[in-house]
Amino acid sequence: MSTPLTGPWWKHAVCYQIYVRSFADADGDGVGDLPGITARLPYLSDLGVDAIWITPFYTSPQHDHGYDVADYCDVDPLFGTLTDFDALLGRAHELGLRVIVDLVPNHTSSAHPWFQAALAAAPGSPERARYLFRDGMGENGEEPPNNWKSIFGGQAWTRVEDGQWYLHLFDTTQPDLDWTHPEVPAMFEDVLRFWLDRGVDGFRIDVAHGMYKAPGLPDADYSAPHPVGPLDQDDPSMVDLPSKDEPMWDQPEVHNLYRRWHQILASYDGDRMGVAEAWTATPEAMAHYVRPDELQQTFNFHWLSAPWSAAAFAEVITGTLDAVGSVGASATWVLSNHDVIRHVTRYGGGARGQARGRAALLAMLALPGSAYIYQGEELGLEQVAVPPELRRDPRSLVTGLVGRDGCRIPLPWGGEQPPYEFGPTAGQPWLPQPEAWAALSVAAQKGVAGSTLEFYREALAVRRTFAETAGDEVEMLDLGADVLAFRRGDLVCLLNCGATAVEVPEGEVLLCSGDVPGASDTTTWLRSPH
Ligand code: NOJ
Repeated sequence: MSTPLTGPWWKHAVCYQIYVRSFADADGDGVGDLPGITARLPYLSDLGVDAIWITPFYTSPQHDHGYDVADYCDVDPLFGTLTDFDALLGRAHELGLRVIVDLVPNHTSSAHPWFQAALAAAPGSPERARYLFRDGMGENGEEPPNNWKSIFGGQAWTRVEDGQWYLHLFDTTQPDLDWTHPEVPAMFEDVLRFWLDRGVDGFRIDVAHGMYKAPGLPDADYSAPHPVGPLDQDDPSMVDLPSKDEPMWDQPEVHNLYRRWHQILASYDGDRMGVAEAWTATPEAMAHYVRPDELQQTFNFHWLSAPWSAAAFAEVITGTLDAVGSVGASATWVLSNHDVIRHVTRYGGGARGQARGRAALLAMLALPGSAYIYQGEELGLEQVAVPPELRRDPRSLVTGLVGRDGCRIPLPWGGEQPPYEFGPTAGQPWLPQPEAWAALSVAAQKGVAGSTLEFYREALAVRRTFAETAGDEVEMLDLGADVLAFRRGDLVCLLNCGATAVEVPEGEVLLCSGDVPGASDTTTWLRSPH
């Protein structure tokens, strides 16, 4: 059962990320949709999560699978209708599940009416002023206005017919808005209210450290090395934490925007919230997004980026808790999402990756605050190698690199062959599923002791017994250099990252991610009153 719909629900919530294209397909076109989600909501409430976050389902040409929005207040026919959304929301609330929708404010689709009007209008026109159109450098303006690179490869500028350039930090079909133009924040206030009025519980804010750019759009310094995390198999810097001040990210003005949005959220009942997708250099910069008058949560990518090391995990935990504690906020924890290599694969894949994946989950769920899990991790899914001719990520299409498709494969629900009951039609869905996935399907794991699915269900159920009562204080314990160990209230959690087993302190074993408490690559939860 899920928690009752009362209180500041997000503080201790476990939120399940639904990548809408790949969750469940009701109409048989090979792409997931809103009715597909609605039909599977009982699965999620049974799993024991408190909330869902649904990736963008708005009107969109789908160049970046919905992160290119042409109409922020309608549902793309690929995914259903507004009536389907209302049905989803109503059913979720009936089941006690909160619903977070994705807001994409840094850029629109190039198909958005504003951008179409900008293209049709002249340089210097009011229509162009809502985006970042600039004249080029060089004798005939043939060079881009500055040296910024697109996250998806190549330069961040595209030249239009009359010779001007426009900025796009992502795909050329995702023009960046100029947030200093008053019509831009005004439009997004309307969008927030549109979805709040329909009853959503919160927003995941895409590229929340974007929006404002340094005045004058100065060149970036690309020479400083980025701290590397094993997130993207082509280029870790794509989803990596910035190592320094960068003129396109994390500008101070963005915080005034979140102060305004805080007021809008607070004007509605029911603890509506915002969670920032803000990739910041340090936990301190991350905490700026969750000051008391700003957003409620921000994704903790420092946890997701940490290598398999007790010391690294401990450093992230203390750094995070100190940083969010200093502004009176609570923490979030996340291991995977639709942009990064699935964590079982990051941790080495196979049996070792699975063991570490379970251990990392228990470490995360033991910590105070809220946790985000990504669809398919409860099935132990690994990153899939998608052949080049079947890749669909715009980043692959622009650069020829591997890209992010491998963590976005449609879920296997049952059956012996693709689409594994993902949808009602035979054959492969929009991204091909591996042959070996029959054994990983929901139907194959449900009720099977020892399966990843049952492990997740049990972990979430046990977490529920302490999540709200164990308090926010975490005391780090010293059980040797290879062991992450901490106490939270009566709960003691130890994750052995070393190669040899360690002795478990006294207490009642509540849950263990492996067969033997204290074993290598295993997390143990103990009830151990002081
Ligand atoms: C972050 C999203 O998670 C990612 O999937 C998307 O490509 C970019 N933002 C651009 O919107």
